[in-house]
Amino acid sequence: MLLDFSNKVYALAPLAGWTDLPFRQTVKKFGADLTVSEMISSNALVYNARRTKKMIEKSPLEIPYSVQLAGAKPEIIRQAVEILNDEEGIDIIDLNAGCPAPKIVGHGSGSSLLKDLVLLGQMIETIKSTSNKSLTSVKIRLGFDQKIGPEIAKVVEASGADFLVVHGRTKTGAYKAPVDYDQIAEVKAAVSIPVLANGDIDSFDKAHSVMDYTKTDGVMIGRGAMGNPWIFKQLREGKANLSREEKYDVILEHYENMVSFHGEYGAVLFRKHLHNYSKGYEGASLFRDTINRIEDVNEARDLIKEFFR
Ligand SMILES: Cc1cc2nc3c(=O)[nH]c(=O)nc-3n(C[C@H](O)[C@H](O)[C@H](O)COP(=O)(O)O)c2cc1C
Repeated sequence: MLLDFSNKVYALAPLAGWTDLPFRQTVKKFGADLTVSEMISSNALVYNARRTKKMIEKSPLEIPYSVQLAGAKPEIIRQAVEILNDEEGIDIIDLNAGCPAPKIVGHGSGSSLLKDLVLLGQMIETIKSTSNKSLTSVKIRLGFDQKIGPEIAKVVEASGADFLVVHGRTKTGAYKAPVDYDQIAEVKAAVSIPVLANGDIDSFDKAHSVMDYTKTDGVMIGRGAMGNPWIFKQLREGKANLSREEKYDVILEHYENMVSFHGEYGAVLFRKHLHNYSKGYEGASLFRDTINRIEDVNEARDLIKEFFR
């Protein structure tokens, strides 16, 4: 079984600008069961396939691997899925039905789909009937501005999705409103496909209390993994933290993978990760100021080695 829902599933959330191949590979080494690409615009895939395909490359460690599509039109999403059908190594196609960013919502994609459940159903049916991958999934919020999570979940299930992820906020709730774990539990109870809970889960204790409370089949973790890829080891083994030396090795390897994947610009793209990795270290604020001004790959590596050793 590609994703074994008879055990709790621990998934890394898609995070645009963050969950590129090097980060997913880092997280995978700590035992994440599922990794998902950054959101891929179906338009971009259809009209600019070459550039967009770089974003869907995966590490060989990523089994199963999910590619998340955003879109607003069944015909375009069908063409995007056909392009993915020719790509090896993708196991799941996930539909983004939760992104609240104005640019995405303005195009009728992401959480906009929660305003038109007929269209949402058509999008899912189109993916399911076109895809040659093993599974189809959908990542939803509880609604656009009203909480209608169970109703949305039933449409997702009836349209043929194999599992769903629910972020326990509405679009209007953005990233700060309290996560409604009661309604996540209602979503789980409303359908018979597996459900993963998402939203503000950032520790062993929180993950286990959410799973106990909502009866969901696992959790998906986003911001809790930023600067903290070892959280997936902790989810299985308890709270044990990595030693400073172990973290040093992880951070340095992540950096080297960034540079091999993105080229020299990888050093600049890695800054945001360093901002998170350096939290709690003495001298972190001076380190962040300094690294923000470095573009050279070797200079950045030297500073990383000096700071995290
Ligand atoms: C920087 C950032 C980028 C995100 N990009 C995506 C995305 O591409 N696709 C998606 O479905 N959700 C995206 N999300 C939402 C997360 O996957 C997740 O649902 C949300 O952050 C709540 O989970 P958390 O509290 O564990 O972070 C993004 C969130 C953040 C903060």
